[in-house]
Amino acid sequence: MIDFKIDEERCTQCGICSKECPTLIINGKNGVPEIKEGKEKNCIKCQHCLAVCPTAALSIWGKNPDDSVTVDKQIPSFEDLGKLVKTRRSIRKFKKDELEQAQLQELIETTAYAPTGHNKNQVLLSVAYTKEELSKVRSLVYDGIKKVKEAGELAPALAMFGNFQTLWADKGIDILFRDAPHFIVASAPKANSNGPSDCVISLSYFELMANSMGLGTLWDGLAKVVFDQIAPELKVAIGIPEDHEIGYMMVFGKPAVKFARSVQSEGLNLNKISL
Ligand SMILES: Cc1cc2nc3c(=O)[nH]c(=O)nc-3n(C[C@H](O)[C@H](O)[C@H](O)COP(=O)(O)O)c2cc1C
Ligand code: SF4
Ligand code: SF4
Repeated sequence: MIDFKIDEERCTQCGICSKECPTLIINGKNGVPEIKEGKEKNCIKCQHCLAVCPTAALSIWGKNPDDSVTVDKQIPSFEDLGKLVKTRRSIRKFKKDELEQAQLQELIETTAYAPTGHNKNQVLLSVAYTKEELSKVRSLVYDGIKKVKEAGELAPALAMFGNFQTLWADKGIDILFRDAPHFIVASAPKANSNGPSDCVISLSYFELMANSMGLGTLWDGLAKVVFDQIAPELKVAIGIPEDHEIGYMMVFGKPAVKFARSVQSEGLNLNKISL
């Protein structure tokens, strides 16, 4: 179960954990905090109680507070993060080499910290860890388009995907994956109404962290069209459960182009609410 434990030697009985709990299930009024009777089921596993405790006295769901990352100053600064946001660019030319597996794993694991609606944590990240795996996905995708095209079933609005397939087959020009070495897809159960947002949030975090490591990313709306509309069988073929909806997908790797400056914002669409 919830496994709520207090280290009484560390606990100062300040009550902060009780005040922070979003579902108000911690009784912090009478001495050492405890979960209110019958309220365990309301825990959303957010771990705010563990994270807010100033003395690392509280453990929940088997998590030891001493294993958490401590918050000692505001990192990164607004200036640093703002610079990252402004200078991040869509990358469409990648170096051939793969990322180191350990670096890639760290990036993926940190992405799991992205927030999800009701803390459901149902986003599945399907990742091509190697060039070989992405190469197989690429073949499946272009073959999927070819099959539909040759059957005369490619909708007129999607005719350009037939051209992308021809470009790949005849010239090896890869519009759909931009010759990137890695690919990530975020999906979530269709039954989760927050799923699409959770997926996009998680890839947004992924993108910024990847860029902070000097990597390049590209949101891949074109490949998503193939998975969603042209060859939907590909979703299951790459290991995504049938009951999942793809939220978004991205290619990434080491950029082969270096930008010298930011672009300049086209303008902010702002509605200052004034009632
Ligand atoms: C949801 C989304 C889907 C996108 N899909 C593609 C794509 O399939 N192919 C592509 O070359 N660029 C794609 N892009 C990149 C956009 O064209 C790019 O973000 C935009 O031109 C601004 O450039 P910047 O990202 O370098 O600032 C996509 C971007 C987003 C946010
Ligand atoms: S994990 Fe979140 S919801 Fe559960 S007791 Fe702690 S603060 Fe409350
Ligand atoms: S926040 Fe920590 S120190 Fe304060 S009452 Fe809760 S467990 Fe005890």
